[in-house]
Amino acid sequence: MVDGSDVVVVTAGAKQQPGQTRMELAGTNARILSSLLPALVERAPEAVFVIVTNPADVMTVVGQRVTGLPPQRIFGSGTVLDTSRLRWRLAQRAGVSTASVHADIVGEHGDTEFPLWSTATIGPVPILDWPGEEPFTSQELDRIAVEVRDAAYAVIRGKGATNLAIGVSCARIAEAVLHDERAVLPVSTVLDGVHGISGVALSVPSVVGADGAVPLARTPMTTAEEERLHASADAIRAAVDALALG
Ligand SMILES: NC(=O)c1ccc[n+]([C@@H]2O[C@H](COP(=O)([O-])OP(=O)(O)OC[C@H]3O[C@@H](n4cnc5c(N)ncnc54)[C@H](O)[C@@H]3O)[C@@H](O)[C@H]2O)c1
Repeated sequence: MVDGSDVVVVTAGAKQQPGQTRMELAGTNARILSSLLPALVERAPEAVFVIVTNPADVMTVVGQRVTGLPPQRIFGSGTVLDTSRLRWRLAQRAGVSTASVHADIVGEHGDTEFPLWSTATIGPVPILDWPGEEPFTSQELDRIAVEVRDAAYAVIRGKGATNLAIGVSCARIAEAVLHDERAVLPVSTVLDGVHGISGVALSVPSVVGADGAVPLARTPMTTAEEERLHASADAIRAAVDALALG
């Protein structure tokens, strides 16, 4: 069924149990992907591979290393899901359409992810200048960021697994690849010098099309945001190193 595919979305593997972090799945899922991916690449040698299995950034590094594919052809769904949760939440609060909210979550798809508030806008208006009856405050934005970051824990506690929103996010990514949209989406590729980060995968806005995902060379960030991106990269690097990959 995989033979000759243009896009392969990989979701095989153990999932989080209530209270478990994504990083705790790393060992088991690295073994599963290491045996699965080479066979998939053999059957669909031209495909773009999208890694959803958690911890998705660590699994993207594992996948890229075991397959040897160019980083742009094997990337994680990253923070596309988290970003859609963020946009929905901000849109509800501001009373506008989600399509009018421009805000991205970057970094690990997990506990160290964060929104780029410095460039977030509603229409063309910076989020902190949004002229609603009750303007946003930094404290409220911080609360929203935590809510979005921890949404998966709440969903897993409630119904045992997250499935609908990630399905929509994967469909969005597949659509961008299949239609060669060159859509800018926060997916997770193994970086090579972007924001001074190399050898780990994490999400930054990237151009997604038929050839895969190419991270933007630079996204404007404050010094504090740059620091958080590096802290996120460090957390992913530590998890990759703990796997002792060859
Ligand atoms: N990146 C994201 O945003 C995101 C969102 C939701 C779920 N996930 C992750 O996706 C993964 C799957 O979650 P789920 O809720 O579908 O779990 P699930 O337990 O319902 O499904 C896992 C599937 O993997 C299959 N599988 C296990 N080992 C395999 C192997 N060696 N070869 C082939 N198939 C194998 C199982 O048969 C099962 O069908 C988990 O790691 C989960 O954490 C990621």
